[in-house]
Amino acid sequence: MKLQFWRQGAVKGPMLDLHCHILPAIDDGAVNLDMALEMARIAADDGITTIACSPHIYPGMYDNTARGIRLAVKALQAELDQRGIAIKLLPNADVHLVPGLVDGIREGNVPTIAGSRYLLLEPSHHVAPPGFEDSVFELMAAGYVPLITHPERLAWVEDQYDVFERLSRRGAWMQVTAGALTGRFGRRVKYWAERFTGEGHTMVLATDAHHPQRRPPLLAEAREAAAALVGAGEATHMVLTRPAGILDDRPPEQLPPPLFATQGFTPVPSQAPRSGSALKDFLRRLRGSRA
Ligand SMILES: [Fe+2]
Repeated sequence: MKLQFWRQGAVKGPMLDLHCHILPAIDDGAVNLDMALEMARIAADDGITTIACSPHIYPGMYDNTARGIRLAVKALQAELDQRGIAIKLLPNADVHLVPGLVDGIREGNVPTIAGSRYLLLEPSHHVAPPGFEDSVFELMAAGYVPLITHPERLAWVEDQYDVFERLSRRGAWMQVTAGALTGRFGRRVKYWAERFTGEGHTMVLATDAHHPQRRPPLLAEAREAAAALVGAGEATHMVLTRPAGILDDRPPEQLPPPLFATQGFTPVPSQAPRSGSALKDFLRRLRGSRA
């Protein structure tokens, strides 16, 4: 407890958010311009300087395209600039894993993160997608680095944590939700967030913000939580060094490697209980479950 108090405020500096549903009226994130502006102000106050805007692409439900997203980014950036909100926006998408995804990227319909080789990849929430590992390997064989979104929040992580471990060891990157690490999604999700992080598999922390209050764009508190678990240097890599490298499209081998692959690394056990109140966690998921 004393140690955590001492660490409070220990990590400073800008942060980059690679997963945020801030573009207005384009998915289940910000519903209008006012809400998008409120989210941008909260993010700026938190120390976030850049947001790679990531609306869902989910055929049949959210049919966003790279072109539409670019236009929406440009429009919102103009609104931010006009109001002096110091956030740089870049195009991105929260890409649901569907057949034909590689073709969609190659044809330019599905955006990668700011046009880089890194792709924000969202697995289905409630059931493991059939052939999930093969699909991820297919993306990697095509030259992309999948940044797998919020594995800690998936209903099936409980039974298939080993799938993510294997993918991580083969070069897929894991993006853990900032609020998961700070307990905003309940104790069960916090346990898995701490486990991914403490075992050295978390490469990036991102807000996955959808709303100014219910799913706010806050990253600093998670950076502190990560610092308490694995140290300030690694926490900074998760919110700054690796996200900046992704935006610059630097190859993964030029960026800080996952902690599990560094010499002398000892896994840190999760401090959160493995299961919380099932009812509480269920109600929390009901209030804001969309990925
Ligand atoms: Fe998302």
